[in-house]
Amino acid sequence: MLTTSLPGGTWTLGDLTITRFGYGAMQLAGPWVMGPPADHDGALAVLQEAVALGITHIDTSDAYGPVVTNQLIREALHPYPASLHIVTKVGANRDAQGGWPPARDPESLRRAVHDNLRHLGLDVLDLVNLRLGNAEGPVAGSLAEPFETLAELQQQGLIRHLGVSTATAEQVAEAQAIAPIVCVQNMYNLAYRQDDDLIDTLAGQGVAYVPYFPLGGFSPLQSSALSAVATRLGATPMSVALSWLLQRSPNILLIPGTSSAAHLRENVAGAGLPLSAEDLAELDQIGASA
Ligand SMILES: NC(=O)c1ccc[n+]([C@@H]2O[C@H](COP(=O)([O-])OP(=O)(O)OC[C@H]3O[C@@H](n4cnc5c(N)ncnc54)[C@H](OP(=O)(O)O)[C@@H]3O)[C@@H](O)[C@H]2O)c1
Repeated sequence: MLTTSLPGGTWTLGDLTITRFGYGAMQLAGPWVMGPPADHDGALAVLQEAVALGITHIDTSDAYGPVVTNQLIREALHPYPASLHIVTKVGANRDAQGGWPPARDPESLRRAVHDNLRHLGLDVLDLVNLRLGNAEGPVAGSLAEPFETLAELQQQGLIRHLGVSTATAEQVAEAQAIAPIVCVQNMYNLAYRQDDDLIDTLAGQGVAYVPYFPLGGFSPLQSSALSAVATRLGATPMSVALSWLLQRSPNILLIPGTSSAAHLRENVAGAGLPLSAEDLAELDQIGASA
């Protein structure tokens, strides 16, 4: 059984127990998630620090770089500790301009799964998210064809568990009618709370919700209410934002991104703040006014 002193404790994804405090590897690639990092050894050190801190959940994708973060993960951590679970996503490529064109036809998805296995040096991918929508967010429409393709790859033993990303509540339900999912990875943070109802529904089903951009992503969270609560608690706004997510619902898993080992340590150290009813009421205003 996995025990951890990381804030939030653990969560079970299907048959895999992971720390709720994970690490999102996207920031390890070059600017705008294209090309190699300026500091290759520094990127390897961040990944090694994540594992040294006891994190057992790393989020990645072949689209980051492209391929850069998966190569870094393999270089830094392979052979992987048995407790480490790497979560990847398929369904988008990169173009020369840094765009994220969809690649959800069956052939592209099969290729993407095999590419991820090869780049990460794995025989089975622990969890694959089907990325839907686009850079602006979820887009309504059936996911049957791409999700059935991933379910087939799961039946072939190439994928242990499935999830969806940038999905509407209807798409989540449609996926669940095809094959079980263990997580939904959507954009969500203190200021962006479109998925409040979905989070509660998934919590009732024992399905994880993994917010991307937990710190605001490319536009860091900024709010006078957040700064006021942070000042009162003698903490950073990032610590408050992460603590709020862990406290928001037990099925929320964190994958904050950073290219800095110091920031990673700071985030781990700060994410366990107990927030009072007064703090929560003040922080709730941020999402309500966004
Ligand atoms: N499913 C999807 O479509 C999707 C989309 C986007 C992201 N994701 C996943 O979600 C993960 C998290 O998203 P994200 O990394 O884009 O956004 P994020 O976690 O909200 O924020 C990352 C930003 O916060 C900064 N930061 C982190 N800790 C900090 C600290 N202690 N002090 C100051 N700055 C700090 C980072 O800069 P430094 O590098 O300087 O620390 C980086 O610029 C990604 O890594 C990726 O795995 C998934």
